[in-house]
Amino acid sequence: MDSESVDFLIIGSGVAGLRAAIELAPFGDVLVVTKDKPSESSTEYAQGGIAAVMSDEDTVGIHQEDTLKAGDGLCREDAVKTLVEEGPERIMELISWGAEFDREGLKLALTLEAAHSKRRILHAHGDSTGKELERVLLSKARSFPSVRKYPFAYTIDLIINNGECHGAYVLRDNKVIALFAKATILATGGAGRLFSRTTNPFVATGDGMAIAVRAGAELEDMEFVQFHPTSLYYPAAPQFLLSESMRGEGAVLLNIKGQRFMDDYHAKAELAPRDVVSRAIISEMVKTASNHVYLDLRHLDKKFVKNRFPKINSTCLQYDIDITEDLIPVSPAAHYIMGGVRTNLDGESNIRGLYAAGEVACTGVHGANRLASNSLLEGLVYGARAGKAALNTKIKPERISGYNEEVSSISDIYEIRRSLRRTMWEKTGIIRCAKSLKQAETKLLLWKEITKQNFITRNELELKNMITVSFIIVESALLRKGSVGAHYRSDHKDRGANWQEHIKWDKAIFRS
Ligand code: SIN
Repeated sequence: MDSESVDFLIIGSGVAGLRAAIELAPFGDVLVVTKDKPSESSTEYAQGGIAAVMSDEDTVGIHQEDTLKAGDGLCREDAVKTLVEEGPERIMELISWGAEFDREGLKLALTLEAAHSKRRILHAHGDSTGKELERVLLSKARSFPSVRKYPFAYTIDLIINNGECHGAYVLRDNKVIALFAKATILATGGAGRLFSRTTNPFVATGDGMAIAVRAGAELEDMEFVQFHPTSLYYPAAPQFLLSESMRGEGAVLLNIKGQRFMDDYHAKAELAPRDVVSRAIISEMVKTASNHVYLDLRHLDKKFVKNRFPKINSTCLQYDIDITEDLIPVSPAAHYIMGGVRTNLDGESNIRGLYAAGEVACTGVHGANRLASNSLLEGLVYGARAGKAALNTKIKPERISGYNEEVSSISDIYEIRRSLRRTMWEKTGIIRCAKSLKQAETKLLLWKEITKQNFITRNELELKNMITVSFIIVESALLRKGSVGAHYRSDHKDRGANWQEHIKWDKAIFRS
């Protein structure tokens, strides 16, 4: 097997991975591996923005309070404090690297999203904030000759030796390569593609969480999946996020009878927490026997709407929807997983030499429900912290050869994938109960063997990871017999006993 040694290995090239790479670049050679092209990540698709305290009318204390409130009692307070305190510095640094956030005159333009009590969301090119962040971070990373990238390189597993992480086995050009490193940082993003309705890009298949748990890392809070209330629901169109900032700027929700309904569900109406809005939409859909509701911007100034949401406008126009004149059909979709690889404030996992940052990680910042637009900020703050901490690694990677070369194959990959995604959406989605979760568990157990086999194609490896992570989500959701944050059980509507405990998973994933 071919092999290579680097100082620092980063898996994933979204905001967290690139920010970590920039931190490490002056101190050694950094290899960023990514399963697709480097810009293909959830970061690239983030529309709404990035939350940070950048005005005199706001304070880090208020941002902290809003984040804790959204997290519904399950945030780690020190992680939130670190996020909100270090956030503004990370933003200023991005601006100094060339980030062009939208401005009103000389001042940064700040918008509002659900559960924020101040206008504190920065955005770029209207609704293309993630794309701007990715542009700036990629260009900054490129300015260091020590940073190299391996695109289209799929990480199969971590190299674990005596309980330490010594790098990863990667599939590149149909060959497995062992990449040995003093420190390995997982920044692989989330797992939205486990659900048939999602705002996430194709790459979000939970790979980082699956390879970490196979290596013995602890996962935490995996039952907490956030569903975004408004993704485009139009048969001919791909699933597409309609940013919450549209509601922040005054868009309202109507059921198919043309009636506004959010006032009946929450005092903050359209700007209620996401889980409340998503459940309200489901309830209206059931009442009206429909599979969508509408987002309405027709009362807003047309010029403002077009300038503020140019990407959403042009995408909807492709499907003959004029967002200034037409009602936009929307329904909820899986958006973000609050759980992930448990880390401390420096991105360290329970495995020496293995760090995690961004959506793949669980720093405890988001608790049971993420405050909108805190995730890009988390990627920046904790990507930088993981990079800094990785500099102190004491790992001396050994060129071990423990790779299992025996390979299996799956004949009905696409059928299983489709069935898994549908099961997760229908049985483990916005509203869950013991019966639906048990049905999901039974289905997943049919594919248990796949999680133990070794494969040599991206599609098969992705499916193996999707089954693994789905199973952990289902089992965690079964264990949490109560409703907290984004986890809602129709058979346990109160918080349940011991609700403040976090559910953790390690290697022993299948309980049967
Ligand atoms: C959005 O623009 O609605 C998404 C922002 C986020 O999820 O933080």
